[in-house]
Amino acid sequence: MLYSLLRPLLFSLDPETAHHLTLTSADKFGALLRVDVPTNPVRVMGLDFPNPVGLAAGLDKNAEHIDAMAALGFGFIEVGTVTPRPQPGNPKPRLFRLPEANAIINRFGFNNVGVEAFLENVRRAKWRGILGINIGKNFDTPFEKAADDYVFSLEHVYASASYVTINISSPNTKGLRGLQEKSELDALLGRIAQTRERLSERHGKRVPLALKVAPDLDATQIGDIAAAVRTHGIDAVIATNTSTTRNGVEGLVHGTEAGGLSGAPIKAQATAVLAALSKALAGEVPLIGAGGILTGTDAAEKIAAGASLVQLYTGLIYRGPRLVTECAAVLRGR
Ligand SMILES: Cc1cc2nc3c(=O)[nH]c(=O)nc-3n(C[C@H](O)[C@H](O)[C@H](O)COP(=O)(O)O)c2cc1C
Repeated sequence: MLYSLLRPLLFSLDPETAHHLTLTSADKFGALLRVDVPTNPVRVMGLDFPNPVGLAAGLDKNAEHIDAMAALGFGFIEVGTVTPRPQPGNPKPRLFRLPEANAIINRFGFNNVGVEAFLENVRRAKWRGILGINIGKNFDTPFEKAADDYVFSLEHVYASASYVTINISSPNTKGLRGLQEKSELDALLGRIAQTRERLSERHGKRVPLALKVAPDLDATQIGDIAAAVRTHGIDAVIATNTSTTRNGVEGLVHGTEAGGLSGAPIKAQATAVLAALSKALAGEVPLIGAGGILTGTDAAEKIAAGASLVQLYTGLIYRGPRLVTECAAVLRGR
């Protein structure tokens, strides 16, 4: 209700300004708007989620708004993508609304404060729910050294995360998606799995690892990803990140901006990748569905396609926080 009143004002501002204004206001007033989502417990990756509706990565890149986001009733929150060193991301403008299509195009390029400052923010949060930390590579780390960045960040965030997401699917870091290819993925996940073994012993806890993939994958790539996930004991796959396709936004203002497309136009494609992974993994590895969830029914479609949990981003921009409660209610009623 409140969000429907505020939305015209927010949409009259530059999108990145509106984004920061919304989050800083949520930090100040979020606690007043606290919603209690009825519990609908689900156990995934060995973790107990109070409900299956999560915040997708990228909305709180620096882990600065965890308590405000928790007040919206999410069953889990994923922060990041964080890289080893701070980096400014791409020049502005780099975030575009396409309201006619309930879509966004972004080319942020992993703007973030770097893993050290990020962890200070995580430590400041009071919330003690399930926190995913999403890690990526710096834009200027050579492709051949990408695994070093993931290992470095995994070592740093390990003790603070409920689970860690390996993001190899952002379209805004040159070459990143190349890590989804068979031999690169095998080498990367091998290093990461080895590092996790070492860290499990050191910390006395095995932190689950999720792999986040693109919606722009063909059947062979999906098969290769499923095989690598099984081989290296990855605990979940998040399907999907944003898309480089422009189906459904042709002819719209900003429709040809470079970057990743998210929201309603990518729903079918993201759900198709999710369903194909579900078939390939045959229930052995849980899936987290993201991409184009604008209603509770969309969330239920992801579960029907094989997801155990869902994540929201673009839907929150268009529908506001009530989308969290709506998704949780529909999934509870299933
Ligand atoms: C502005 C914006 C920034 C994003 N940044 C990240 C990011 O840093 N890391 C990541 O893994 N995904 C990122 N994403 C992708 C989302 O987490 C999500 O996977 C994708 O947008 C599909 O879901 P949606 O259609 O509900 O938005 C971003 C998405 C948007 C719209």
